[in-house]
Amino acid sequence: MRSDRLDIEPGHISPGLSTPLALEVENLSVDFPSPEGGKRVVDGVSYSIARGRTLGVVGESGCGKSMTALAVLGLVPAPGRTDGRIVLNGRDLSNLSSTEWPEIRGQRVAMVFQEPMTALNPAMRIGDQIAEVLIIHEGLKKAEARERAIEQLRLVGIPSAAERAKAYPHQLSGGMRQRAVIAMALACRPDVLVADEPTTALDVTIQAQILELMQQLQDEIGMAVQFISHNLAVVSEIADDVIVMYAGQIVERASAQVLFSQPLHPYTQGLIETLPEIGHRQDVLPVITGTVPSHYHGIAGCRFAGRCPKADATCRSIAPVLRPVGLGHDVACHKVS
Ligand SMILES: Nc1ncnc2c1ncn2[C@@H]1O[C@H](COP(=O)(O)OP(=O)(O)O)[C@@H](O)[C@H]1O
Ligand code: SF4
Ligand SMILES: [Mg+2]
Repeated sequence: MRSDRLDIEPGHISPGLSTPLALEVENLSVDFPSPEGGKRVVDGVSYSIARGRTLGVVGESGCGKSMTALAVLGLVPAPGRTDGRIVLNGRDLSNLSSTEWPEIRGQRVAMVFQEPMTALNPAMRIGDQIAEVLIIHEGLKKAEARERAIEQLRLVGIPSAAERAKAYPHQLSGGMRQRAVIAMALACRPDVLVADEPTTALDVTIQAQILELMQQLQDEIGMAVQFISHNLAVVSEIADDVIVMYAGQIVERASAQVLFSQPLHPYTQGLIETLPEIGHRQDVLPVITGTVPSHYHGIAGCRFAGRCPKADATCRSIAPVLRPVGLGHDVACHKVS
């Protein structure tokens, strides 16, 4: 939790109504065709992020975190289908055509993924790649764009930026490459940055540097950040609010402060329990056993029931819905009152 951000009452997931929402996602779902008749990998997900805030998205591998992010960016791979409402700074993107998406993606919403090489062109110098973004989206002239690219590399803490701008991606270390991707993502000062496991492939020291850098830049630009990670310790450091995903759905939502001190969903409790540095409940739950189910259709009740120590007959037959249990604190569990 960011100590400078604890200016909201516990339980408030969003600041006052006056703070404009950068991103609103309503009833988002992603389906893939499958021999069984279709596989819904994101199921009725709704959330919003206000300007300047960071939403952490946590959950084990396979819970739908990346697919949710890809849907927000209009990047769900074929033959996947996205449904629901996505509103970026008041503009509804739900029915955007494939020709309209690139403009939005480069300019208003940017992304950083786990593997920087996927975002970089291996055959193009780093500086030229950033300059290209500025030429396309900001209409800068070549020389001006080159200057700005170097400035951008300097901003993300790349030493000898003018020299490094001439390097090809493979000539940089993993940490430097991810900095370059962040420089490129932030070149057009996006309203929303979607970061999907941006530091997972990096060593701990570099990871800390990159996270600090993202926060600094966020403070400067005022962008909203959707920060996806399976690493709760990292999320507890940087998120203002958190959603916990399990099997394609949100099972708990709260401010980071509340979520990490009073987790209510057995799944969240289990996740936190696996963290020695923030786990408080050694006596309640052991590490969660089992794995995320890969198909959810056959499951009539709670999708977590097969792994939940509190599951009973009701849990196995009736699906719990996400409902408010406190101010800004929502949980989908029959056993939480
Ligand atoms: N191209 C695809 N076709 C069908 N299913 C997919 C595809 N890509 C991912 N999935 C499934 O979607 C689910 C969610 O995946 P993902 O969003 O990558 O999870 P996470 O990021 O939380 O690890 C998983 O069950 C995964 O197997
Ligand atoms: S609804 Fe039942 S099975 Fe699901 S998380 Fe709550 S107690 Fe566990
Ligand atoms: Mg993922």
